[in-house]
Amino acid sequence: MKKLLLIAAALASFSAFAQKNNDLAKTPPMGWNSWNTFACDINEKLIKEMADVMVSSGMRDAGYVYLNLDDCWHGQRDSLGFIHPDPQRFPSGIKALADYVHSKGLKIGIYSDAGWKTCGGKPGSRGYEFQDALTYAKWGIDYLKYDWCYTEGLNAEEAYKSIGTALVASGRPIVLSICEWGNHKPWTWGAKYGHLWRTTGDIVDCWDCELGHGSWASKGILRILDMQIDSGIRQYAGPGHWNDPDMMEVGNDLTVSESRAHFSLWCMLAAPLIAGNDLRSMTKETKEILTNKEMIAIDQDSLGVQCFRWFDYRTFQVFAKPLANGELAVCFLNRGETPYNINFDWKDTENIYDGPHVYEFNKTTYKLRDVWAHKDAGTTAKPFVATLAPHDVIVLRLKK
Ligand code: GLA
Repeated sequence: MKKLLLIAAALASFSAFAQKNNDLAKTPPMGWNSWNTFACDINEKLIKEMADVMVSSGMRDAGYVYLNLDDCWHGQRDSLGFIHPDPQRFPSGIKALADYVHSKGLKIGIYSDAGWKTCGGKPGSRGYEFQDALTYAKWGIDYLKYDWCYTEGLNAEEAYKSIGTALVASGRPIVLSICEWGNHKPWTWGAKYGHLWRTTGDIVDCWDCELGHGSWASKGILRILDMQIDSGIRQYAGPGHWNDPDMMEVGNDLTVSESRAHFSLWCMLAAPLIAGNDLRSMTKETKEILTNKEMIAIDQDSLGVQCFRWFDYRTFQVFAKPLANGELAVCFLNRGETPYNINFDWKDTENIYDGPHVYEFNKTTYKLRDVWAHKDAGTTAKPFVATLAPHDVIVLRLKK
């Protein structure tokens, strides 16, 4: 009997091993991805320039280590089924590019699709899962974003199980980013095979709009935010497995306030922080937003707890995120078009009982740190009073 149990335990641990490398993404992955700015227009010169600027801008040192190619790096499969990059755009090959990226102290990500074609119409991995995983491993790939176009008739969980198993079998630690847009509740099974999963369709760089593309629509910052909060999926995020509200539009077609709010909210959500702007031409303000170490520390907090909406007064909302060591992040958001006068009386507010994370404001006084002003901001003994600009946030870190 004991022997049988041992065998069963060994098999169980083997099958867990076979589907996912558990040591990756203990905190939400951070990096840059080509899609939001460049779509299919990518080549090795661009990616090398982005590697250089990730270092010179301080992005790498702030934690952005993954440099991820999105769709359209592909050429064709050869007669043995091996995939090759587009010879015009990537004449030196992906291995040489990966070596360059690694020489900068960065990691490299690539993109494929569970179906027979990618969303951009390039060869997908269907039927080639193990062969592609091995190819990526030989090239030195560290991260795979795996999309969901052209998958008619496929079972989503099985498809991601296949690629997850193939990545582990390749022998190289590779983060698996599940990109099936939340269609089949990936939060209920994604953690077994991958490290993050998209919860929605694509983001677009507007505050609160929707952009139709025929059968689907991309969504602005507030719409994606609301989908994270209202879908009740926060309990599925944690170290090693994250809800992914999509790559960031910080520094794209948003105002500075909107970019700051977008970034803060993604940090509150414990979201993967994958920048999507052209880092070579980013403004000083964009750089300051993306590299705000106090804000990043909230995203990367070791507890790995996603925020919840604490208060909702129409265009004024307050989000709270439990942090390690009994600390708490609080984000005041003004969704509206006019300034909002905050007068937030901690002593008079609802205490937080979030599972084991308890914050009793009527019993405990916390020190406040303003994460964007980079200064201390009193304590919870007195109401927090401030004017919050439209489409902007104030983020406080509370400490005993
Ligand atoms: C889908 C994904 C995007 C991007 C494109 C590439 O729409 O959701 O993030 O990868 O495909 O074609």
